[in-house]
Amino acid sequence: MQAQPSTQRPLTDQEAHLQYLKSELRKMQSLAALGELTGTATHEFNNVLMTIINYAKLGLRNRDDASRDKALNKILDASQRAAKITGTILAQARNRGDSMEPTDLVGIVNDSLVLLEREMRQYRVAIETELDPATPKVLASGNQIQRVLLNLLINARQSMPDGGTILIRVGSGSDKSLVDLTVRDNGSGIPHETLPHIFDAFYSTKQGPDESGKGGTGLGLAACKEIIDAHQGRIRVESTVGRGTAFIIRLPIAGDSLAAA
Ligand SMILES: Nc1ncnc2c1ncn2[C@@H]1O[C@H](COP(=O)(O)OP(=O)(O)OP(=O)(O)O)[C@@H](O)[C@H]1O
Ligand SMILES: [Mg+2]
Repeated sequence: MQAQPSTQRPLTDQEAHLQYLKSELRKMQSLAALGELTGTATHEFNNVLMTIINYAKLGLRNRDDASRDKALNKILDASQRAAKITGTILAQARNRGDSMEPTDLVGIVNDSLVLLEREMRQYRVAIETELDPATPKVLASGNQIQRVLLNLLINARQSMPDGGTILIRVGSGSDKSLVDLTVRDNGSGIPHETLPHIFDAFYSTKQGPDESGKGGTGLGLAACKEIIDAHQGRIRVESTVGRGTAFIIRLPIAGDSLAAA
């Protein structure tokens, strides 16, 4: 009998070390994402509480029916928004595990916008959406796709220091087995020579976190790429300096969505 060359040779020290470093990097990325999400949500929540407190004071000061009705309506609106914000965080922690399941991208976009609504307004960034409700579900981890989306939206916002518009589009691709998710900004754009590096870990052109504490680590797009790769999807970028940037993601639809469509 002839000896077969072994297909599974033991890892060299260097390879094992590289694997260890990669797993450490993944841990850092999830911690950074969790920190960012919690930070955004806490900030939002605090703002809603301020609205509630102020209108409660107003209602106590002005005892006529009209003022009280107005105060109570504002308090009701703000409380419903607060419930949506905590709902999003709880969904991250519970329902949307890291497991792959049929996932509605339109829902994920709407949840992410609840979290960023005020921040976008503050930076004078308008959000336009084209979300086709008939889009088939994709096979995805909702948590991870939300991380991707938040990264892309924050990058887009940071590329427009004087404000601008972000367009988010979700719909079937020309290939019916894929769903397209596009995030387009009309910000600074990315120079041609920089483009090949933007998905590299720790590549950043930012000086550090902005006033909202975000950006500058250079892990955002590296995490996006890794997540989309793990979903057997594709992420690509189109950018023109001075005109803006679009990130286009394609994800495979969930098996039974094709039959249902
Ligand atoms: N929409 C965009 N418009 C212009 N440049 C962008 C855009 N998105 C990414 N970039 C460029 O790609 C670089 C890498 O982005 P990435 O999200 O990985 O890191 P970062 O935003 O600098 O830091 P963080 O890890 O906090 O996200 C950015 O520093 C920026 O130069
Ligand atoms: Mg980023």
